[in-house]
Amino acid sequence: FDFDKRARASRGKTSAAVRSQASSAFEPFQRDLPLPPVARPVRASKQLEEYVMDMKPGTAEILPGLETPILGYNGSFPGPTIRARRGRPVHVTQRNQSGRELNVHLHGGVTPPEYDGHPHDSIPDGAERLYKYPNVAHSATLWYHDHAHGETHKTLFAGLAAFYLLDDPDDKHLDLPQGDYDVPLMIMDRSFNKDGSFRYRYDLDRGFRGDTILVNGAVAPRMKVERRLYRLRFLNASNARAYTLKLGNGRDMIQIGSDGGLLPTAVRRKEIPMEPAERVDVIVDFRQFGVGSKVILHNEGGEPSTSAVMRFDVVKATGAEEARIPKLLREEEEIPEVNAERSWPLTFQGLAGGASMWQIGGGGFNEMRIDCRPRLGSTELWTWRNLSQRTHPMHTHGYHFRVVSVNGKQPHPGDRGWKDTVAVYPNETVVVRPYFDYYAGLYVFHCHAAEHGDMSMMGQMEVVA
Ligand code: C2O
Ligand code: CU
Repeated sequence: FDFDKRARASRGKTSAAVRSQASSAFEPFQRDLPLPPVARPVRASKQLEEYVMDMKPGTAEILPGLETPILGYNGSFPGPTIRARRGRPVHVTQRNQSGRELNVHLHGGVTPPEYDGHPHDSIPDGAERLYKYPNVAHSATLWYHDHAHGETHKTLFAGLAAFYLLDDPDDKHLDLPQGDYDVPLMIMDRSFNKDGSFRYRYDLDRGFRGDTILVNGAVAPRMKVERRLYRLRFLNASNARAYTLKLGNGRDMIQIGSDGGLLPTAVRRKEIPMEPAERVDVIVDFRQFGVGSKVILHNEGGEPSTSAVMRFDVVKATGAEEARIPKLLREEEEIPEVNAERSWPLTFQGLAGGASMWQIGGGGFNEMRIDCRPRLGSTELWTWRNLSQRTHPMHTHGYHFRVVSVNGKQPHPGDRGWKDTVAVYPNETVVVRPYFDYYAGLYVFHCHAAEHGDMSMMGQMEVVA
């Protein structure tokens, strides 16, 4: 996948031509929802699971009859899902056969800094790297993606993204839907050239916006469901586009989790906004629909304005009529007192020479500068003050936080669990409380709109023992 060549080749083609290519040739709901492949360990024991993966070019059939070149984990788009268990470490050897420098970040993972995928900690082309994930934290829907310094908008766009589902044997008593009824759904947007290749357009201000929404790499797929409960794990793996998910007929989805795992209590929602990198776990009760119902999942109010993300086709009744959703999902744990307060203005800064860039705290990313030194074992209050006209999904590596307030008010109940990415809308002030509970060392925090993070909305923290 030669990103730069593709970007060059696509210059000059009008967006309208691309749009008609992508949509007129394509009827929605014709294709069954694909599931990402599940990665198989090369060795597994009770103490450890070991994987080997190749980051390499591949192709995907996204538009009918056309091959789209991608860059993927094992050459697949989306990449293979890793299913991990709390308390059992996972080791992944990543072999870089991509033709460019890469690295791997386990997003939402509580990972020692040497395995976290700091943007400067890269794997040269042709080399390999062993990542050790201890899986010490709560069960959660995590994902892994490339984090090459200044290049993430390209490598993520090219396809280097995959799920990492961390389960906890202690969740068993909740009796949540499992196996075929626990479904990862990776949402992203793309545009296409006539030959089926991805078409990228750089936009530092707003980030990339495609004209076509994909779920697990398919355009508006349909999923056959039984009349029973399903757990749907949504991930927004887009470069910069936000979605507001809404089930057809205004029916409720029951949110049970967010970035950092299960919420304290389930929350009924008709609309769920998702910024890049956020995860939302919901339960949908398909018993409320008759056999033969076709239930569309919409993206409300984005561009394209109202569009179908996918469709659920209720095909049969099953015996699971008695299933219910537990009210209490997780005990809220005590966390230490606040040890320090920090305020981070988020700005778009003009530079000498006419260029501009996104900044945190009045500075762009500088690997020689450490922006703060939180104490291991402490919590802090961080205030994100958005002084710009764009939304910034602010993400911290290595640690989770609680959202304390949004413009001085309580956050939505769906944001009251542990989070690692939080939307900070234009002119908004969001206070979060990170808990530096596991490993000391150097981590980054940044805006997860990939174009913003790359240029250069990113800071460094060194957690000190
Ligand atoms: Cu999902 Cu630093 O990234
Ligand atoms: Cu941003």
